[in-house]
Amino acid sequence: ESNQFCDAGIGYRESECGLDSVSPSKILIKGGTVVNAHRQQVADVYIEDGIIAAVQSNFKVGDDVTVIDAMGKYVMPGGIDPHTHLAMEFMGTETIDDFFSGQAAALAGGTTMHIDFIIPVNGSLSAGYEAYVEKAKKSCTDYGFHMAITKWDETVSKEMEVMVKNKGINSFKFFLAYKGSLMISDELLLEGFKKCKSLGALAMVHAENGDAVFEGQKRMIELGITGPEGHALSRPPMIEGEATSRAIRLAGFVNTPLYVVHVMSIDAMEEIARARKSGKRVIGEPVVSGLVLDDSCLWDPDFKIAAKFVMSPPIRGPGHGKALQAALSTGILQLVGTDHCTFNSTQKTLGIDDFRKIPNGVNGLEERMHMVWDSMVVSGQISVTDYVRLTSTECARIFNIYPRKGAILVGSDADIIILNPNSSFEISSSFHHSRSDTNVYEGRRGKGKVEVTIAGGRIVWENDELKVVPGSGKYIKMQPFSYLFDGIDKADAEYLSSLRAPVKRFKTTS
Ligand code: URP
Ligand code: ZN
Ligand code: ZN
Ligand code: ZN
Repeated sequence: ESNQFCDAGIGYRESECGLDSVSPSKILIKGGTVVNAHRQQVADVYIEDGIIAAVQSNFKVGDDVTVIDAMGKYVMPGGIDPHTHLAMEFMGTETIDDFFSGQAAALAGGTTMHIDFIIPVNGSLSAGYEAYVEKAKKSCTDYGFHMAITKWDETVSKEMEVMVKNKGINSFKFFLAYKGSLMISDELLLEGFKKCKSLGALAMVHAENGDAVFEGQKRMIELGITGPEGHALSRPPMIEGEATSRAIRLAGFVNTPLYVVHVMSIDAMEEIARARKSGKRVIGEPVVSGLVLDDSCLWDPDFKIAAKFVMSPPIRGPGHGKALQAALSTGILQLVGTDHCTFNSTQKTLGIDDFRKIPNGVNGLEERMHMVWDSMVVSGQISVTDYVRLTSTECARIFNIYPRKGAILVGSDADIIILNPNSSFEISSSFHHSRSDTNVYEGRRGKGKVEVTIAGGRIVWENDELKVVPGSGKYIKMQPFSYLFDGIDKADAEYLSSLRAPVKRFKTTS
């Protein structure tokens, strides 16, 4: 059997990959509970040529169709992760998961699409785009791109237009942190917001005050705190709250929708709650690490353990995760990402003597669907339909690819998971599919297990085996002017007319 699709680095068994991985194009998922964000029903799902062709009871098929029994199980849209960093050059190294290993991990955990952040090359968007097109050639599942904006001039402004109009990118991320590398000024932020608005592209922010972080880091080093705990101590929640508030207010000033990535603290969440209450269009994305972990491990005496939890904004103290979960269940926050950005323990050692040099990032692509299910559905905090909304549908709506993605409807892409609520999952770096030698969820077990993943109409995960083909993943172009932009022009017109009301002044003579 040919072995040409195997990736030696990832260590799959021979049976897990190869040419036999091309599954039949006709699949019937029988008798499961089909869950969409808007409702759930017992039905069969029939797939042909990568597309959902029917959702109905007692669907009859011929014997050329592969039938999967899903009785007693949930049949749900594959997860969509709005926030990943695969093959990203960052902090003097490159993430250990690339577009193949990261996506393989995603599929094994029930995520069938992710949106990755293109980092410009020396500020150039087109060079960044070309580099990521290259990186993504080995993709084994569908993906889209956001793009970071790291400097500002006429070229960048024009390139943003090209990205939106020709390249399928409808969102741009602005970093308010990482002083000296990715961080941008408020002036640039305003320019960027204005441009995003005119293009119908969603502005995203990494909300931490980079100058304050710099000051906090100096303070820790002066105190002799050089270990991983110094990372969290140097950038407390108030620093995240400040930047979140500032970004929200500046986006409001421009009147353009805003997406706050990796909301890690109560402080940031409360700013989002306040803004939404006053009618502002602000989306808040917590990430799974922030929902289910706390900062205690940063104090672990073993550097290897402590360092694997270093990410920005930091994983917070006990209480923040529960509050973020509650905010998700009540609609203050809208969807869950991962910020999957993995560095192995050797890479993390770059910061052995200085926490400022520990590459920032944690894993999550393979774990998100299970961890959210276990911590929020099993506990009864959210419904199964809400689970689908938070892990898939809302992401598809925000980035304007719904209902092609994020739904089990006739005509949608056949990206589907079958989750058995009576089975259980276990997480360990010894058998996960990321290339990292560590896992921040090491040893976790819980209820619910993604038993089957179907991506693009192919069975890619079944019986704990991956059948992935590099190059089979498609780039999903995303159109501008999502629902978040509806009515923005009316609010603008109202604002302008209020300014134009003439002020009658008395002419005074002496
Ligand atoms: O620690 C993190 N979050 N690393 C990835 C880069 C970012 O800020 O999203
Ligand atoms: Zn192999
Ligand atoms: Zn970030
Ligand atoms: Zn990130």
